[in-house]
Amino acid sequence: MKNQAAIFMTVCIVCFLFYCCTNATDTAVVTSDSASANNNMYAGYASQTEWGKHIATVTGCGDCHTPKKMTDRGPVDDSSLMFSGHPAQMPGPSLMPDQLAKGLAATNDLTAWIGPWGNSYAANITSDSTGIGSWSEEQFITCIRQGLYKGIAGSRPIMPPMPISSFRNMTDNELKALFSYLKTVKAVNNVVPEYRPPAGTPK
Ligand code: HEC
Repeated sequence: MKNQAAIFMTVCIVCFLFYCCTNATDTAVVTSDSASANNNMYAGYASQTEWGKHIATVTGCGDCHTPKKMTDRGPVDDSSLMFSGHPAQMPGPSLMPDQLAKGLAATNDLTAWIGPWGNSYAANITSDSTGIGSWSEEQFITCIRQGLYKGIAGSRPIMPPMPISSFRNMTDNELKALFSYLKTVKAVNNVVPEYRPPAGTPK
């Protein structure tokens, strides 16, 4: 009798331990599954915004859209003005037509350009209303995919050197992540000068 009770108790304990272990494993599997699903969703980044920040960094949006400070080793991003575009008060480059025929020119912070397409100024892409603060996600996708100013149907094409031909290949999810990040960038109020077509172009 004693023996039977001992066997019964042992079976109960083994069953209990088995139940606890399987349950614990199940929970762990569920957690790691959902964590890896999130990681996959944002290419390994913790959030959509983090992923967007990574895309903006590796594609070098700041190279043209961030004003620079000059150092003895060349221009470096002015982090207080991240992505705020060509500063409104800064003169653009100027060239005589015969000089222009020899190539193109840019300001030393690479925010304003002159080429055969006219004068272009890197846009303000901060979250300010003078940037992309009031844009919808759809507008942003249309702007980059179709190379249309402000992403509005029928507006003028976006001019060089904005690398539309490469950026239009970003996936919807990449563009959405990029947009969600730009919306978090500190708002800088800066009305960038209007694009000017080459002198003599019919209006
Ligand atoms: C080589 C320089 C360069 C790089 C790099 C660059 N841009 Fe631009 N971008 C420009 C210029 C110049 C303009 C203005 C063109 C115009 O007025 O037609 C512009 C325009 C834009 C516009 C349109 C703004 C509007 O009002 O319609 C958006 C949006 C934009 N850029 C986002 C980006 C993002 C996001 C990145 C990085 C993924 C990026 N740009 C990288 C030069 C650049």
